[in-house]
Amino acid sequence: MSVNIKNVTVTFKNQVRAVDHVNLEIPHGVYGLLGENGAGKTTLMRVLTTVLTPSDGEVYLDGIRYGTGKDEVIRQKIGYLPQELNLYPGLSVQDCLEYLGELSGIPKEECKKRIRYYLEKTGLTNHRKKKMRQLSGGMKRRVGLIQALLNEPEFLIVDEPTTGLDPEERVRIRNLLVDFSEGRTVLFSTHVVEDIAATCSKLAVMRKGSFLYTGTVQALLSRAKGKIWTANVADDTEAKRLEKQYRTTSKQYTEEGMTVKIISDVKPDIDCTQPKITLEDAYLYLMMEKKKQ
Ligand SMILES: Nc1ncnc2c1ncn2[C@@H]1O[C@H](COP(=O)(O)OP(=O)(O)O)[C@@H](O)[C@H]1O
Ligand SMILES: [Mg+2]
Repeated sequence: MSVNIKNVTVTFKNQVRAVDHVNLEIPHGVYGLLGENGAGKTTLMRVLTTVLTPSDGEVYLDGIRYGTGKDEVIRQKIGYLPQELNLYPGLSVQDCLEYLGELSGIPKEECKKRIRYYLEKTGLTNHRKKKMRQLSGGMKRRVGLIQALLNEPEFLIVDEPTTGLDPEERVRIRNLLVDFSEGRTVLFSTHVVEDIAATCSKLAVMRKGSFLYTGTVQALLSRAKGKIWTANVADDTEAKRLEKQYRTTSKQYTEEGMTVKIISDVKPDIDCTQPKITLEDAYLYLMMEKKKQ
C-alpha cells in the first residue's frame, strides 16, 4: 500500500487556497497530520478520500491515479472517519452498522461477523442495542471508527477523532488507532500535539495549506535540541521580565517560586538548565523558526 501526493493544490470558489502545492508520501503505520484549525487538514483528507477533486496536482494510491475512472477501486481500499459524523440517531449501534455495511455492499453474514469483532475490539459489545443518540461522544467516535473499518480498508483516514473527548476516551481512541494500524496505513489528523506524541513515529506539520515539516518525530525533536531552556525565578515579576526579553512557552508556580520555559538559540542570560525536549517544545520551536523566515 502506497499513498503519494504530488504537488496538490485546492483552491475553493471563494479563492481560499486550503492546500497549497503539497507533496507527501505516506508510509505504513500511524502517520500524524498535525495542524492548527484552518490549516487544511480536512481538505487534504477529503482529497485523499476522492470526495474532493484538487484544483491541481496528482494523487496515487498503490500507483492508481485519482480521477482517471478508477475512483471506485480506490474507494474500496479506503476507510474514512470524518470530523463531523452524525450517524442515524434513531438506530441502534448494531442496526446502524449493519445498514452501513449493506450500503458498502458487504455480504450480510460477513458483515455481522466483522461488526461482532469490532464491537468487541472497541469495547462496545454491551452497548450494541443502545440508540446512537444515547451514546457519549467517545462511544459515537468508536462506532464511527468501526464504520470506517467495516470494509477492511488498507488505508484508514481519521479526521480529528479525539476532539471533545475526555482523557480516558482520548487515550482509548489513540490506542485503537495504533491497534488497527497493523498491516495498514493510518492517516490521523489532530491539532493536539500529545495525540501525535502518543501514537506516531512520523508526521507532517501543516499550516496555511503547506507542510512546515514532514519526517520523523525524532528528527523534529532533534531540531529543537539546545534551544529549550528552563529557568527558576523567584516570582511572577521576574517571570514577566523574562517574557519580555525571550520567547517563553510556559510558566508554572513551584514550591520555591516559578519555572519558566524559554525558546532561544543561545543560552539566556540567566541561570537556566536544558530540560528533556517534548514534542510540544519541538512544535513550538518549529512554529517560531518558520515565523522568523
Ligand atoms: N468548502 C469550502 N469552501 C470554502 N473554503 C473552505 C471550504 N472548506 C474549507 N475551507 C477553508 O479552507 C481552509 C482549510 O480548512 P480545513 O481543511 O477545514 O482546515 P482544518 O481541517 O485543518 O481545520 C480554511 O480557511 C477553511 O475556512
Ligand atoms: Mg478539520
